[in-house]
Amino acid sequence: MDRVRVGIVGVGNIATLNVPGYLAHERAEVAALCDPRPDVLERRAREWGVAKCYSRVEDLLADDGIDAVEVLSPTPLHAEHVLAAVAAGKHVSCQKPIANSVADARRMIAAARDAGVTFRVTENCCHYPPLRKARDLVRAGAIGTPTVVRIKTVVGRTDSEFQANLDPSGYGWRFDARSPGGHLFDDVMHKYAMALWLVDAHVRSVQAVVRTGPLFFEAPTVALWEYDRDDLLGIMEVSYAPDMFIRSDHFGADEFFEIQGTSGFLWVTRLCGQLHDLPPLVLYEEDGRRSAFADLDATYDGSFRRAAADFVDALVGGHEVDLAPGTALEALQLAFAVYAASNERRPVDPSGIETAVSPAGWPPGPEKLRRDVEQMFARESARAARLARPGA
Ligand SMILES: NC(=O)c1ccc[n+]([C@@H]2O[C@H](COP(=O)([O-])OP(=O)(O)OC[C@H]3O[C@@H](n4cnc5c(N)ncnc54)[C@H](O)[C@@H]3O)[C@@H](O)[C@H]2O)c1
Repeated sequence: MDRVRVGIVGVGNIATLNVPGYLAHERAEVAALCDPRPDVLERRAREWGVAKCYSRVEDLLADDGIDAVEVLSPTPLHAEHVLAAVAAGKHVSCQKPIANSVADARRMIAAARDAGVTFRVTENCCHYPPLRKARDLVRAGAIGTPTVVRIKTVVGRTDSEFQANLDPSGYGWRFDARSPGGHLFDDVMHKYAMALWLVDAHVRSVQAVVRTGPLFFEAPTVALWEYDRDDLLGIMEVSYAPDMFIRSDHFGADEFFEIQGTSGFLWVTRLCGQLHDLPPLVLYEEDGRRSAFADLDATYDGSFRRAAADFVDALVGGHEVDLAPGTALEALQLAFAVYAASNERRPVDPSGIETAVSPAGWPPGPEKLRRDVEQMFARESARAARLARPGA
């Protein structure tokens, strides 16, 4: 194949970050879009100059002018859409989380393998140059043997144009029983994937405390895991700081990654937000030397463009795809193991999870959501009043 004709399934919020990489790639063509919402479909088709539009996935998949699909539909539909695309002989890239259950993820992987098509999970973190370089450095032994992986995620508020333009309807399916969990299942899936991908290791046991926060947030959360090597542990923290401003061009969130090795450290910052003014990757070596990789592209949207380009390049050039669906499946098991460990207050082996696990109290009922929204508005009004005070 020397040119890839891509069909986009779902043109909601994240499509605005995922599709530009296909539009810009010289070996790709965005051949068709599909979405059941005619107004959104028409607007995106106009913005991106795409002539063919479908309101039903089966019609897009019956189009012989499409070689591959990018699945950007709500997560509860991933299994159905990926299985149908694979059955139609299309190569598939599907946004994270791979699926709502481990059994579905296994079916998707097996179906793609049997059909002989390429299947990858769209994980923009794999295409964020500071994380990619960090992984290369770990593999090259730059910090000796990794001993502790620490990942921190914080959600706050921001004033980015991207966030202000998000369509709130994209949050409906995330807050109810169509999803097995909230923020830890959704955004934090990236961090679970990185915990596995950065050190090329598997997790054999998880302990965690997950607290219920407002809306769909599950914070504060602290999880601790053992990898399949006795000398390597992982720690993850997730916090929600609704009154804290985060500099960001996109979502009001940020994350930091730290890999400690027997002879050095790696620090990766500035993925989604810019809380720190640090270079996006810093290497600390055994002799105390510090190298800052300040020239790496640390833009969030750049990681999505590279993710799209890499899928096209993999189809054209035949190289391995990231994120491999097997790792995405393990990330899903890790997410469910964190919920199970907190629910049951005991260590859990993620490899034993074959279905889905939800956190205690999930999904939030309408009464709780109403209270959370009221509190959010009250906080916003109090902040506006504080800022309006003379001298503020
Ligand atoms: N950083 C990231 O990589 C990132 C960020 C946000 C979302 N995501 C993932 O992207 C996916 C989409 O999230 P979103 O925030 O864009 O949601 P969204 O609801 O804004 O967009 C989903 C789109 O799919 C459309 N859709 C619904 N049913 C469909 C069907 N049967 N066929 C085709 N289209 C259909 C909806 O109309 C909507 O336009 C999710 O899996 C989510 O986890 C990833």
